[in-house]
This record gives sequence, structure tokens and C-alpha cells, in this order.
Amino acid sequence: MDMTGKGVVITGASRGIGEATARMMAAAGAQVALLARNGDAVAEIAGEIGPNALAIPCDVARYWEVEAAISAAAREFGSLDVVINNAGVIEPIASLADSDPDAWSQVIDINLKGVFYGMRAAIPQMRKGGTIITISSGAAHNALESWSHYCTSKAGAAMLTRCAHRENPGLRIMGLSPGTVATQMQHEIKASGVGPVAALEWEDHIPADWPARALMWMCSADADAFAGEEISLRDADIRARIGLGA
Ligand SMILES: NC(=O)c1ccc[n+]([C@@H]2O[C@H](COP(=O)([O-])OP(=O)(O)OC[C@H]3O[C@@H](n4cnc5c(N)ncnc54)[C@H](OP(=O)(O)O)[C@@H]3O)[C@@H](O)[C@H]2O)c1
Repeated sequence: MDMTGKGVVITGASRGIGEATARMMAAAGAQVALLARNGDAVAEIAGEIGPNALAIPCDVARYWEVEAAISAAAREFGSLDVVINNAGVIEPIASLADSDPDAWSQVIDINLKGVFYGMRAAIPQMRKGGTIITISSGAAHNALESWSHYCTSKAGAAMLTRCAHRENPGLRIMGLSPGTVATQMQHEIKASGVGPVAALEWEDHIPADWPARALMWMCSADADAFAGEEISLRDADIRARIGLGA
């Protein structure tokens, strides 16, 4: 897919799915803004990508930072065409009764309010159209032991996708549930030793390039029919359509 001339913002681009997506979309011609708290990491990746990449240190749990970053990217690129709400955390994994209330709330601030902040800042800048994709999870739809913070935040983010689509039918607003992906988040889940996902082997996870390819495809007209919906990479038909292995 050719993304020449497209202005793209990706949150959580300092590693994992966000980094892979930034590299792939820039290689396809897009201008890409990489947002994350680790400013050194995004600067390093943007430097490797080249002049089409912009690194912006940003904590998605702070609206003013998200708003400033999205405005800066739109100004720099001349248009804002794609926003990928990808930033997310799973730690601290703990049973609800043992959880630290502040730490539990911080996950909501990042995984749920961070997605709202991205949509809130981007939608007014996308009056001529555009695509907003939020990374969802099987945990949005399934209760998993010691993941109450994560499941709740992802369920809320999935509903935000539906609400934003209802209010903005002129935009392409979707969710992507990637399945399990070989990133730092899976190392953290494995280390917790809790629940069915921690029991998986590393080989069970798909590489970060797969959701990156899915996200690129979701920016194309071929995915128009999925506006307002969540796409799952566990779906064999979807994988085949994107050209990913079984
Ligand atoms: N890996 C999986 O199996 C899996 C499955 C389903 C869904 N997901 C979702 O996929 C997304 C990406 O995760 P990943 O697997 O690529 O994990 P990862 O490698 O741990 O990357 C998470 C990214 O989010 C960023 N981030 C975390 N908190 C942030 C904050 N407050 N502000 C800005 N950026 C923040 C991190 O950068 P900094 O720390 O530098 O801020 C990092 O770039 C997440 O939403 C995750 O929930 C992952």
C-alpha cells in the first residue's frame, strides 16, 4: 500500500507494535509522528527512519501533552490522516482485592483515557476525513484473572471506538484486536505467571509486523466496510485478506 503524503500519529511507538507500525508506514511513504514517554527511544527510531519521521515525547495520560503532540504533527505534516491509539500497559498484574488503587487507576489513565485523549484531540483536526484505529484486545471481551484493570480499560476503549464512530460517520474509526504479539508486554505477562496468557510459549505469539501490516491495510479502502468495528487478527478470513500466514 502506498501511504505517500499521509500524516500519521502513532502513540506508544518506542517499541513493539507501535515501533513496527511506524517503520512500516514510513517505508510506505507516510510522514509519521512517534509518541511515547521514552523520548530517547522515539528519537533513536525516528532518526533511523529518516526525514519522514518526527519523535514527540508524550505521556498519553496527560491531555495537554496529547493535544500538543497531535497539533504539532498536523502542523508539520500539513494534514492529519491517520491516528493509531496504540500506547498501553498491563502492569501491575494483581487480583482486584490486592491491587493498589492508584496503580489500577493509572492503567485506566493510559489505556482508556489516553485513547479518549487521542480521539478528542484528533477528531476536530480531521474534518476532511481520516482514520483512527485503537488497539484492542481479547481482554476487552473476556474477564481474565488479575487483569481487571486491563480488561476494564480495553472494554472501555472498545466502546469509545463505537461511540466515536456513531458521532463521526465521515471518519474511519476502528479497533484492531491483534491476538498475542511477541513484545515486551508478553515478557511482563510471562513473568507474572498468572492466567492462561502467561502459560503460552513465546512461539505462540505473532511478530509485531503482523499487526503493523493489519493497521496499514485498515487504512486502505479495502477495509472501509469495517468502519465502527473491531477486527480480530485471530480471524483466519481477515488474515487471508491481509496476506498474513495462517
Ligand atoms: N503484545 C500483545 O500480546 C498485545 C495483545 C493485545 C493488545 N495489545 C496492545 O497493543 C498495544 C501495544 O503493546 P505492545 O504489545 O507493543 O507492548 P509494549 O512493547 O510494551 O509497548 C507499549 C508501548 O506503549 C507505550 N506507552 C506506555 N504507556 C504510555 C504512556 N503513558 N504514554 C505514552 N506511551 C506509553 C510504551 O512507551 P513508553 O514506555 O516509552 O511510554 C511502548 O511504546 C497496547 O495497547 C497493548 O495493550 C498487545
